[in-house]
Amino acid sequence: MAVAEPVRVGVVGLGTVGSGVVRLLVESADHIERHAGRPIVVARAAVKDLAKARSVEVPGGHLSADWRDVSRDPAISVAALLVGGLEPARTIMIDLLEHGKDVVTANKALLAEHGPELFELARRRGRSIAFEAAVAGGIPIVAAIGECLAANRIESIRGILNGTSNFIVTRMEEDGADYAHVLRLAQQKGYAEADPAMDVDGTDATQKLAILAHLAFGAWVPWAEIPRTGIDGLDLDLITYAGELGYRIRLVAVAGRSDGRLAMRVAPALVKRGTPLAETRGAYNAVSIVGDAVGRMFFHGLGAGQMPTASAVVADIIDTVVGRAAITFRTTGVLSADTPAARIAGVDMQERHFLRIRAQDRPGVLARITGILGEHGISIASMIQHDAGAADGTVPLVIMTHPCGSTAIRKALDHIDASDVVSGRSVCLSVLDE
Ligand code: NAP
Ligand code: HSE
Repeated sequence: MAVAEPVRVGVVGLGTVGSGVVRLLVESADHIERHAGRPIVVARAAVKDLAKARSVEVPGGHLSADWRDVSRDPAISVAALLVGGLEPARTIMIDLLEHGKDVVTANKALLAEHGPELFELARRRGRSIAFEAAVAGGIPIVAAIGECLAANRIESIRGILNGTSNFIVTRMEEDGADYAHVLRLAQQKGYAEADPAMDVDGTDATQKLAILAHLAFGAWVPWAEIPRTGIDGLDLDLITYAGELGYRIRLVAVAGRSDGRLAMRVAPALVKRGTPLAETRGAYNAVSIVGDAVGRMFFHGLGAGQMPTASAVVADIIDTVVGRAAITFRTTGVLSADTPAARIAGVDMQERHFLRIRAQDRPGVLARITGILGEHGISIASMIQHDAGAADGTVPLVIMTHPCGSTAIRKALDHIDASDVVSGRSVCLSVLDE
């Protein structure tokens, strides 16, 4: 039997993800060949700094400091773009497509910012872009929504989409670890973005949510318009109080249909212990989807890190080689120019809320605070106040409300925070009971 010609792949970026991709393509070459029907070989790789020590060797030693060596190599048909950020990633993607390469990428920032432009270019050039690794690392959520659940009208998505944030909040919760120390650990483990502010301020999860919402709801959402709050405002006390009430804190991305619009947000929320989101720990991600035919589905797996992400990138390379990526790309019209722009609804979901108010420790204060909540129609479900005041004469007051709209609670808190019975800004988190 004749041996099929190998497919030559170029890899641009040999950091955490790129090194994992080369390792997987080399170490699992036989297994991958069986799935692809032909050998897949790394022909060339490009990096920024040739002097840096590498954990993998590029077969044949074809490593260059100029990504054009990948785009201009006519023997390379598929390129993995594993450089983060917007530039030069956008320029490299354009050059790869213009030189006839199918592209696989893990760069969600690039897709959330320039997706429509890049996907149109790929279509004009008859090429495909595959991006499973861009959302939720090793979890095959792009294929699940884009292909496997195609018969469904998706009603809602709820997910933990940033491994770094989840790693930080779980280590704070389980070991009482210091925020800055755990963030450094997440960087050492290769979970964090080059600029980790994008992880902890919610940007990364929001960009991923915009990509998922496009796949699920068929509309393009400018990610910067999605309301977002990160975990960077959390402290250990909040995590401890949540635990006392039977909850954990997670950074949760939410998208759902609401009167012809999309209600979307990314924010820390209290999730009830024992529910799948609450049991998602460390660098794991989770996505819960409700489809009208399939009902609720739950996906769970490592959302960051070298080999889980490489798993998704290499699966995309195989899909590209066998032609599946091109079919998906052509048939789903993913990120096409005629995709309607989504109108984002004001997020005023009726939910329970968790409040932490730094109240002055003197007579009448509790009555004043509960009175203001009552004036805004907010009913209190439970309350905690420990006899442990701070040096400034305040004491933390933790309140769990019955379901109420977020606009009402925001107005009530603005009123409370402007009064003379509290100190500093109060914290308000949504409570997700299922
Ligand atoms: P990384 O470790 O910082 O690696 C980035 C790589 O890009 C480095 O090898 C760097 O070269 C290379 N690079 C930068 N500028 C270049 C240029 N002009 N030409 C050629 N190469 C260039 O980043 P990463 O963690 O692997 O992430 C890569 C992408 O995957 C990002 O978009 C990230 O958001 C995404 N992602 C990451 C993970 C994860 O867990 N890390 C998971 C999912 C998705 P040098 O090595 O010479 O500096
Ligand atoms: N920095 C990202 C995270 C990598 O922590 O989830 C995976 O996209």
